[in-house]
Amino acid sequence: MKDQYAVVGNPIGHTKSPLIHSLFAQETRQDMSYTAIEGPLEPRNAFQDVVRTFASRGGKGMNVTAPFKLEAFAMANDRSERATLAGAANTVKFEDGRLLADNFDGIGLVRDIEVNLRLPMVGKRVLMLGAGGAARGALLPFLAAHPAELVVANRDVSKVDALVASVAGRGPLIACGYSDLERLGRFDLVVNATSASLTGDLPPVPPSVFSPDGTAYELAYGKGLTPFLRLARNAGVHGVTDGVGMLVEQAAEAFAWWRGVRPQTSAVIDRLAIPLD
Ligand code: ATR
Repeated sequence: MKDQYAVVGNPIGHTKSPLIHSLFAQETRQDMSYTAIEGPLEPRNAFQDVVRTFASRGGKGMNVTAPFKLEAFAMANDRSERATLAGAANTVKFEDGRLLADNFDGIGLVRDIEVNLRLPMVGKRVLMLGAGGAARGALLPFLAAHPAELVVANRDVSKVDALVASVAGRGPLIACGYSDLERLGRFDLVVNATSASLTGDLPPVPPSVFSPDGTAYELAYGKGLTPFLRLARNAGVHGVTDGVGMLVEQAAEAFAWWRGVRPQTSAVIDRLAIPLD
């Protein structure tokens, strides 16, 4: 039987993961299957049963998406440091009866920025908006890229204070509220890691944070020119991008972890990209 993989989430109809992983498998000549599973929202622990059943039937690994990332993390036997900081897993692997959890969202984002967009973060001023799961997952990979400064802004300042305290001493990190941003100048890279775009909302970010030569990165994928990207464009930013590259790069990390071979990503990104306007 082929090695079995799946993505589990709810809803799951929109997922691009089976397409991405089948393209990776074709390119790297891996004999595997990859399906999408709609995880049960209730009763409690039903999600864990789905994961255990998949593993017991010979499953090798799963991608995990909303709303199960926290539960997947919690049920793991072993967890990577970046998954631990995020408190969430987006990928699991079944090995010798154990469930291993990792989180490749942040590293996928960094690879997209540094490799695909050719924007090395070293020495740059970087602003991240949000302090939820997406921002938490990106924090350590961002610091590992050695920006001159990483400012993290959130509406609920206590949340961002706690997040920054959890990685104190790991790099030049500043926590703040949106009202502090006016006096913090321009940034080379502004990343919207809030969930505001999912509801068509705009985080209360002042246009003064953008620099025309800089980049505005929207984590959401397939939402077109979101209010955040529109604000950046109106502020004169040429480099506006959505999260399609991150989506494919995090998948490539998972694939490499499972299969021991790294797929090419650029053709897959081109295939999935949706014009912003
Ligand atoms: P995710 O896992 O997608 O990051 P989450 O953990 O619920 O989701 O976190 C959502 C993030 O988006 C939070 O940082 C939230 O800000 P608060 O902590 O202050 O609530 C942020 N967010 C959601 N809607 C927003 C909006 N309209 N403007 C600004 N920030 C928003």
